[in-house]
Amino acid sequence: MPIDPKASPTQENGAPAASEEHSLTVGADGPIALHDVHLVETLAHFNRERVPERSPHAKGSGAFGTFTVTGDVTAYTKADFLQPGRSTPMLARFSTVAGEQGSPDTWRDVRGFALKFYTQQGNFDMVGNNTPVFFMRDPMKFPHFIRSQKRLPDSGLRSPNMQWDFWTLSPESAHQVAYLMGPRGLPATWREMNGYSSHTYSWINAGGELFWVKYHFISAQGVRNMTAAEAAEIAGDNADFHRQDLFDAIADGDFPSWDVKVQVMPYDDAREYRFNPFDLTKVWPHGDYPLIDVGRFTLDRNPDNFFAEIEQAAFSPSNYVPGTGISPDKMLMGRVFAYNDAARNRIGANFEQLPVNRPVIPTNAYTFDGHMRFEHSGAAPVYAPNSAGRPWAEGGGRAEDSWESDGDLVRASATLHSSDDDFGQAHALVRDVFSEEDRAQLVNTIVDQIVNTDVVEPVRSRIVEYWTKIDAEVGADIAGRI
Ligand code: HEM
Repeated sequence: MPIDPKASPTQENGAPAASEEHSLTVGADGPIALHDVHLVETLAHFNRERVPERSPHAKGSGAFGTFTVTGDVTAYTKADFLQPGRSTPMLARFSTVAGEQGSPDTWRDVRGFALKFYTQQGNFDMVGNNTPVFFMRDPMKFPHFIRSQKRLPDSGLRSPNMQWDFWTLSPESAHQVAYLMGPRGLPATWREMNGYSSHTYSWINAGGELFWVKYHFISAQGVRNMTAAEAAEIAGDNADFHRQDLFDAIADGDFPSWDVKVQVMPYDDAREYRFNPFDLTKVWPHGDYPLIDVGRFTLDRNPDNFFAEIEQAAFSPSNYVPGTGISPDKMLMGRVFAYNDAARNRIGANFEQLPVNRPVIPTNAYTFDGHMRFEHSGAAPVYAPNSAGRPWAEGGGRAEDSWESDGDLVRASATLHSSDDDFGQAHALVRDVFSEEDRAQLVNTIVDQIVNTDVVEPVRSRIVEYWTKIDAEVGADIAGRI
């Protein structure tokens, strides 16, 4: 924070500021002089105070903390920050997906669960959600999906018809939609929700062996949800309910924690596992791959400045470190491109130099200049190879986070495994995990989205068909009430 708010007031150039109250005029009642530098600078900068909001996940907030490894996962990863006993500073940002900056925190939606670990090998980001699955399995569909959840092109209104049109024409969404329409679609607070990587990632151990992993962040506060009626009332009363809860809890010294756990799948299991392990619409039942303890993170410091540290924070699945990697999940590969590109657009080409995004270790990348570049390498060569002693990377050969793949270039759905379909895991969630009461609320929620909204045919009938495929009884209950 290089600005001392107690220092004498200045203009941007450091010269004394004339007045925050009076502009410079010809006589007390005359026109304003254009050379009132302080006024002109103030109005011009005010016009540039905002950066574009995130396209999805615009509304959110976050806090800083520390992650400490309490388990021993050295058999699976050599990542420095995952070695026993290590502590790593971190940042978390929680968000809603579809709403805009001012939207109510308690609208039914998936919640973003983005973590940035400032490790000694570079920044490691885990940009997850509060649900272990997602709506689709091909990145080509993501922009279509987000637009269907946002606003109509003519009226600018949200539209259940548009949301359900997309979902019911995309049957792979069934599992995530069942999650969202159930109790977990309305978390009581961010402190009382779990987080998930959702995707399968990879870990690589010191021997070069690769494992497939799914990350789970289990709330030490427990999981608590709110009813639709409570959420609607709070939405009208305090749109920033979740933001305020997190900030106030930390300000009061009530620091929230999450236990970090992973499911680990040996590399070769992926070929024959009953579900395609790289399909983001599926979970791995814990009976198949139990949770393994890694550690715990605690959030204990609020941002000093929301804009500098939360709005300008840029998370990306492309931020990973040696001993960790991605997987053949197509959605994940799309995301590896999308996030830093979004940050370049939203914040600027040099967003990684901002204090909240900067790694805590020195960097020496062959990227140069551009808007607002302020760290630089002086007169050192800007090219490689060079004969002036600036090192460059010469890696080659097999990547450590490698997997086998071959075949023709095609546009096709991922290969189905023996138990793969669109509705099976959604059915198990609704029938085996949800209680009788949860199912009754689920039916109410869906009926509320159909009756007295903009939902029309053919979407209306397709909603019933979709739910009948998930669970015949739920489908029949909905059909009987609309
Ligand atoms: C191909 C699929 C996806 C694409 C192209 C995509 C793209 C994006 C983009 C462009 C942003 C805004 C980033 C920014 O402006 O800084 C964003 C935010 C976010 N996305 Fe995704 N997304 C995808 C899928 C997912 C999935 C599957 C998850 C969770 C498992 C997820 C979690 C998040 C979160 C938590 C944020 C907010 C990050 C923050 O707090 O700044 N996204 N996404």
